[in-house]
Amino acid sequence: MGRYITDELVEEIRVRSDIVDVISERILLKKSGANYKGICPFHHEKTPSLVVSPVKQIFHCFGCNTGGNVYQFIMKIENIPFPDAVLYLAKRYGINIPEQRIPGVNKNQKSILHDVNRLAVNFFHGQLLESPQGKVARKYLKGRGIKDDTTGLFNIGYATPSWDGIQLFFKEKGISVDIQKLAGLIKEREDGGGYVDKFRDRVIFPISDSEGNVVGFGGRVLHDEEQRPKYLNSPETPVYKKGDILYGLHLAKDLIRKNKEAFLVEGYFDLITMYQEGIKNVIATSGTALTENHMRLLKRYTDTMNLIFDGDDAGRSASARGGMILLNGGMKVRVVLLPSGKDPDSFVKEKKREGFLNIVKEAKPFMEYMIDQTIAESGIKDVNEKVDCIKKVLPFISGISNSVEKGIYIALLAEKTGVSERAILDEINKRSDKRVRGSGFEIKNSQPEVSNSDLQSITFNPCMRAERILIQLMLLDHKNIEKIKRDISPDDFIDRDMASISSILFTLSDKGDTITVSRVMDMLSEDRLKKIALELVLEDMEYHEVDKNISDCIKYIKKNRMGVKKLFNQLKMAVSEGNNEQFQKLHEQILKIKN
Ligand code: UTP
Ligand code: MN
Repeated sequence: MGRYITDELVEEIRVRSDIVDVISERILLKKSGANYKGICPFHHEKTPSLVVSPVKQIFHCFGCNTGGNVYQFIMKIENIPFPDAVLYLAKRYGINIPEQRIPGVNKNQKSILHDVNRLAVNFFHGQLLESPQGKVARKYLKGRGIKDDTTGLFNIGYATPSWDGIQLFFKEKGISVDIQKLAGLIKEREDGGGYVDKFRDRVIFPISDSEGNVVGFGGRVLHDEEQRPKYLNSPETPVYKKGDILYGLHLAKDLIRKNKEAFLVEGYFDLITMYQEGIKNVIATSGTALTENHMRLLKRYTDTMNLIFDGDDAGRSASARGGMILLNGGMKVRVVLLPSGKDPDSFVKEKKREGFLNIVKEAKPFMEYMIDQTIAESGIKDVNEKVDCIKKVLPFISGISNSVEKGIYIALLAEKTGVSERAILDEINKRSDKRVRGSGFEIKNSQPEVSNSDLQSITFNPCMRAERILIQLMLLDHKNIEKIKRDISPDDFIDRDMASISSILFTLSDKGDTITVSRVMDMLSEDRLKKIALELVLEDMEYHEVDKNISDCIKYIKKNRMGVKKLFNQLKMAVSEGNNEQFQKLHEQILKIKN
């Protein structure tokens, strides 16, 4: 805290650190060819599948697919966020990080935003409690069962219908329009003439980071309306990154640590009502999908998470994905099932703490819940139903990185469906083949008869290979980026993952930055992309005629892209016309391209 780390320092620390040293301090590494190998600390294994490359300064586990650069190793093993990992390594290598003497624009900017937000909290809170217009909001909160103490504890406020209420308030305080805008509290008028308040006629929930700094706001309309969204949230700002913030965490964190578990809900009112009824180890995603950063943040406090689903949540993919993220972060994840149509707010209001704790006793492990839910939906009366059911559950089971845990759920699925474990394993292996080859296209607005997953299962073998080779060549030698960039754009890649990686490489090269694999690892935000890049870098490939390889691949990709694009346009047409026969024909033709 109180230190400002420049990009240059991040680079310097990266260059001075040696990933082999850092990892050797924790696990035994043995030399193996150009690399080192060791037992992976991130999953249980007997034979070493962790590979560390001293040349590329990266690590990768071929067992659990964890990998990255030295910062990512420290983040993962120490369970700390990026800035802390930088400080950790700075200390380890005796690199001095100056106190905030450097013109720390960002650091200053952040604390200014915290202060401005705090002022806004007081303003909104005052409007709620004291202004005549606040009366309707006070009545609204009362109607929803929120007590005065609770309003105070959560600093709930009210933004009046005024177009410039907060602007006048800030003007009096001498806060510039630029800062108000940066804080996301005002926005430009559509006609371009000046600004309007972002939040108008809404109950306001201040959103804090885990340290209690106010970073943003959520606002709810007082009556469900058609013209305006029910909730409005602050835009992302330098202090408010939605994927990093969990509502209520600053209030709940100590109890979460003490109780060794937490409840995860969706809404502001869900959380506040639970808190008010004495269930205080609760946090809310408040309208964003759970991210890996959320998971890492939560893991600082507990490794057990209870998701609260209502009966209608069944198979809602957003909740399912969140559960998978937590599971793959190594957390124990359980599902507390509410009666259909109830959300935590309405359930707890009605049944109180007692009633809630009673259903918590019935909580199921997340994956068991997914299996049961799917069986309930698809049935398992005959072979078709069983196949259907297994097809639906497998993507989740295949997504589990811990192989022991995976085994358990395969056994469970086998038992519950009466299909042999062997058969399920075969099916998983088929799937993972496909994943390695990369996914196909996605068609927007497709009709239900033709599901996206059908289309995604279409793979383009030789073309994929060409795409992978290009990416590999760029990762292995950054000089190749220049050559490839001239002739191809990220859009030319069929595989979206390859497109994303290429776009990052091209951007780095455009900026004229030094490009190392380790650096690229920081830019790849998604773990899936990191894994792909790591695999490509560590694959023992030697290219002898690089320039020829490049031009061959580019030619292949371009030719193929034209043909595939045409077919896909026709396919889209068939889908929108509901012409199933034509669809089948085109589907087969596209499959043939993969030969
Ligand atoms: P819900 O629509 O499930 O509503 O949104 P809720 O929380 O039960 O809200 P109440 O009880 O009607 O007030 C869940 C959460 O999703 C976010 C909000 O954070 C909300 O609490 N959300 C919802 C939005 O961000 N925007 C919306 O338009 C709706
Ligand atoms: Mn609700």
